[in-house]
Amino acid sequence: MTRVIKGQTLSFAADGEAVHESKGAVAVGDDGAILWAGPRALLPRGFAQAEADDYGEMIVMPGFIDAHIHFPQYRMLAAPGKDLLDWLTRFTFPEESRYADAAHAQAAAKIFLQRLFAHGTTSALAFCSVHKTCADALFAAAQDAGMALVTGKTMMDRNAIPAVEDTPETGARETVALYEKWHGRDRLRYAVTPRFAITSSDAQLKVSGELLASLPGALMQTHLSESPREIAFVKELFPWSKDYTDVYDRFGLLGERSLFAHGIHLSERECGRLSESGSTVVHCPTSNTFLGSGLMSMPRLSERGRPVHLGVATDVGGGVSYSMLATLGEAYKVQMLNGYKPSALGLFHMATRGNAGRLKIAHETGALEQGKFADIVVLDPQATPVLASRHALSSSLEDVLFSLMILGDDRAVKATYVKGRKVHGRA
Ligand code: GUN
Ligand code: ZN
Repeated sequence: MTRVIKGQTLSFAADGEAVHESKGAVAVGDDGAILWAGPRALLPRGFAQAEADDYGEMIVMPGFIDAHIHFPQYRMLAAPGKDLLDWLTRFTFPEESRYADAAHAQAAAKIFLQRLFAHGTTSALAFCSVHKTCADALFAAAQDAGMALVTGKTMMDRNAIPAVEDTPETGARETVALYEKWHGRDRLRYAVTPRFAITSSDAQLKVSGELLASLPGALMQTHLSESPREIAFVKELFPWSKDYTDVYDRFGLLGERSLFAHGIHLSERECGRLSESGSTVVHCPTSNTFLGSGLMSMPRLSERGRPVHLGVATDVGGGVSYSMLATLGEAYKVQMLNGYKPSALGLFHMATRGNAGRLKIAHETGALEQGKFADIVVLDPQATPVLASRHALSSSLEDVLFSLMILGDDRAVKATYVKGRKVHGRA
């Protein structure tokens, strides 16, 4: 049955311009696709009798898209590492080793996705553990939920612990098997996932490049230039490289389908190569401040002449919040420390249509447009007493979004819809 979702609608057009209706409506068909979106006064007569979810003056907008998150780290937020490498060895590898157990992975996948929905996130590019069971569990749960999800089994064949290591051969074999089983099924996509240069040998990085080249439509996700000690170790492991980016470049891992988390300490040369190749750098601000990794500069990466595509993400569990609102708020603060003041509208665009483009799912989600799926978050700008009193001072949409990203989190998420189905609601 057709359903109409009413509220203050906000979406972004292909050119990045905000499309805002203070009294808007979105009509959703049986198949979860958007049939119509626009000002309520112009709602076609045919939808007048449809069941309605009326959210009054709350904001009805595309669900958030998290461009970098680790499923098997879903319960290890706030693990106090000294830096990235210490955090990985002390907390992360032992926790991820549990995902060899299919029952554990399946139960965790349900909780993980419900947690995304509770925070208004409707799509993600996610890391799994090294275990095939982990990726199978997450793909299956995402398929059940009807969501557009991109993930892959992590590959790592050195510098970890045996329980989370594979080999170039088993990593490649399992990657191909998972790709063939899940890629293109419903709304699921595969991402070739070498964890980072420290945990993959030359042989495994070479295989990763070959997989990316041979698996049509697959994305590639990894980490790049996050912490000073990591960068020094990469230099030791790959003495022939010009820099960290060059390691991935030599193995054919740069390109339009490649997403690199962090990109904090990049040289001019690295920015140039990332730009030229069409690669994406994903900003993960709550993780970067929590692990003391550094201040990624959006204006520097976006410099005219060699702009690098940017995404934004939580990086849970290095990141300390599932909330893309809190993440945008932290991105704002990190950029302020870089002497740059991003707009709230610009950041909300990044977290929706922008990230959809980077994940290659913009044809089906990321905007309230006819033909896309109704992946929607409803935000209450007056959800808490602090937000409500601040809201009384707001005089523009920019102002309302700004207060939501600085003061908001899952408490501001009134409802979440995936493919037209309500998957979360707050009383
Ligand atoms: N670099 C390699 N693995 C990881 C990870 O799990 N989290 C973060 N933040 N950085 C990484
Ligand atoms: Zn990460």
